[in-house]
Amino acid sequence: MTSSRLKVLITGASKGIGLATSKMLADQGHAVVGLARTQPDDFPGVFHAIDLEDEAARDSLFKQLAAEHQFDGLLNNVGLVNPAPLEEITLKDFDACADVNLRCSLQAAQAVVPHMKEQGSGRIVFTSSMVVAGVPFRSSYAAAKAGMVSFTRSWALELAPFGITVNAVAPGPVETELFNTNNPPGSESRTRYIEGVPMKRLGLPEELAAANCYFLSGQSGFTTGQTLFVDGGYMTGKSAL
Ligand SMILES: NC(=O)c1ccc[n+]([C@@H]2O[C@H](COP(=O)([O-])OP(=O)(O)OC[C@H]3O[C@@H](n4cnc5c(N)ncnc54)[C@H](OP(=O)(O)O)[C@@H]3O)[C@@H](O)[C@H]2O)c1
Repeated sequence: MTSSRLKVLITGASKGIGLATSKMLADQGHAVVGLARTQPDDFPGVFHAIDLEDEAARDSLFKQLAAEHQFDGLLNNVGLVNPAPLEEITLKDFDACADVNLRCSLQAAQAVVPHMKEQGSGRIVFTSSMVVAGVPFRSSYAAAKAGMVSFTRSWALELAPFGITVNAVAPGPVETELFNTNNPPGSESRTRYIEGVPMKRLGLPEELAAANCYFLSGQSGFTTGQTLFVDGGYMTGKSAL
């Protein structure tokens, strides 16, 4: 696959990391189809408003888009956190985390992979998270993001013979609406996150977009099954090699 002009489907594309990636890809000359609930004024491509918690609606839209577009890339970026202490996690909230982070990604991949297989190339990227290392009060979210790492590795092996790569980008704390909502200024968790980052700052959405663009482009063609931590050094020293 060359990087001439790629067509990429991005979930959670209206804000934060998804919007920054959409803009960076568009600036590089690629075509983007973005999904989220609210359309931003400045979306740099085709945009569809959808609540991705609606399983039937997203299934139908993924299938419709896969029929309309020949996707070279997919960024599974939409996420749901539902923070709670262990004893207060409801099964409904746990299921919602697994649904938005994992089941939605599975449906999106199932829609775009047939064309990728046919053309003998494709790029699938997940937005996982540093929480896979374990973070208090984030059990459901962390389990779902760890599931993304597992999907990455299994799909990488399954799809390698078809020239399709599958990688994950695991952000550290990034200054976005999602982060600010779950970790408001002055909160204990916000302080804990920033203190845990060797660079002692939050990441910028553009710093994550750069990693996504690398994995979505032809330049990363021999890299698959990897999880890249873009986290200001958070995981270094915490994880085994
Ligand atoms: N920020 C961090 O510190 C951090 C760290 C690790 C991992 N992540 C992951 O990064 C990804 C992107 O998050 P972000 O930080 O960039 O957050 P963000 O700025 O809040 O963006 C989240 C995006 O997802 C969309 N979205 C949320 N719920 C949706 C739903 N039910 N249906 C459709 N779209 C929905 C939002 O758009 P609408 O509200 O318009 O629907 C928005 O476009 C997530 O998977 C998150 O878990 C973030």
